[in-house]
Amino acid sequence: MATQTTKRGGFGGKIAAILAAAGSAIGLGNIWRFPYITSENGGGAFIIIYLGCILLLGLPLLIAEFAVGHNAKSNPIDAFSKIRKGWGWLGAAGLISVTLIMGYYFVISGWTLNYALSSATDSIGGDYGAFFTEFTTATWKPLIYTYIFILANHFIIVGGVQGGIEKASKIMMPLLFVILIVLAVYSLWLPEGREALGSVFTPDFSKVTGKTFLDAMGQAFFTLSIGMGAMLIYGSYFKKGTKLAGTAISVVSLDTLVALTAAIIIFSAGVENESGMQLAFVAMPKVFSAMPAGNIWAMLFFLLLALAALSSTISMHEAVTSYFVEKRGMSRNKSALIVTFIAIALSTVASLSLGDWSEYKVAGMNFFSLLDNFTAIVMLPLLGILTSVFVGWIWRREDMRAELTAEGGIDKSSYPIISFLLRWVCPVLVSIVFAFGIYDFINTL
Ligand code: PHE
Repeated sequence: MATQTTKRGGFGGKIAAILAAAGSAIGLGNIWRFPYITSENGGGAFIIIYLGCILLLGLPLLIAEFAVGHNAKSNPIDAFSKIRKGWGWLGAAGLISVTLIMGYYFVISGWTLNYALSSATDSIGGDYGAFFTEFTTATWKPLIYTYIFILANHFIIVGGVQGGIEKASKIMMPLLFVILIVLAVYSLWLPEGREALGSVFTPDFSKVTGKTFLDAMGQAFFTLSIGMGAMLIYGSYFKKGTKLAGTAISVVSLDTLVALTAAIIIFSAGVENESGMQLAFVAMPKVFSAMPAGNIWAMLFFLLLALAALSSTISMHEAVTSYFVEKRGMSRNKSALIVTFIAIALSTVASLSLGDWSEYKVAGMNFFSLLDNFTAIVMLPLLGILTSVFVGWIWRREDMRAELTAEGGIDKSSYPIISFLLRWVCPVLVSIVFAFGIYDFINTL
């Protein structure tokens, strides 16, 4: 711990803490992933299960992760081992997972830049499916956009916690909310939009299987950035006396609102014919193109995606960077550079695996899908179980209670509920869903 004497960064106040953490939560998970996972899983039925996962599992786990970071005031690995010796590996597992996520997340983030730009210049035109396939399977073009995005991310991280992350969140998040609201109002304005919505949100329970629950839980964990050190490191930057439960409730509410609004925007476009990861990229430009000034709306939509992605990737990057700064005693600049290089290497392979290298497959998946599936279906549930066990059972009861209630000063009434959810509901429920979902998943392979 070479830097014990140097001052650690931190967020300026309550609003900054909420905006930064909401920035991490709100991302491609909400606007790109949630709508397509929902449409694949029976619409309304999936949303009900998803909301249950958010409330019973996501919220308590988010509080738990904030608590570990806030208590230990250190990077994810030291945080766990400071609270209980020998548990640093749990932080390391989170950091490895978040690094793998960066590998494909930056690629999609790069796409959003190209789409925003191509919409602005109205050059997507014609066959939207072909545009998507041609662009994403190309060699250099997607890579260049990905690198530009990684570079933007790098400069925010180098700017520091307050000068980079906090400042960027304070600009990006309000802008994101404004664009989202404008787009939502616009889509609900159109009568065909309102009609299309009904068909998607009506629950179809016939599509619900064990895998649906696993998908809902994976999505809930992914969208709240749980178990991967990102929320832990932000928690470590919260000021003393910050209400952890209150902050988590704000973050979860904002995140859920954005996911539902994004689903409204996308479904109101009547996109039943598109599915999977193409949904946002193919269906949206197609729909916008039929509208007056459609290219401007499309540009706004992809700008929204880009902003959401950037505020998420900085939290991923920061979690890993903090490890090199605090555990390896490197400067912030050098640490950030190492993480940026790792991100470039992984995302290069992920991007190429969609085109030039698409014949290399593991379990029938290319590298890109492998990263996505392995982290969302395997790592997220495992990290969720372990984090709840750690906070609920391994952390000394009195210390955990003192942290969650700021020495008994706040959140006293919610403490028993959160503690119960963390000790019993999370480990048991996540394990059951994980076991059944994996069983289902293997059967479909
Ligand atoms: N929560 C982000 C999203 O929904 C993704 C993310 C995962 C961010 C892990 C940080 C860490 O897009």
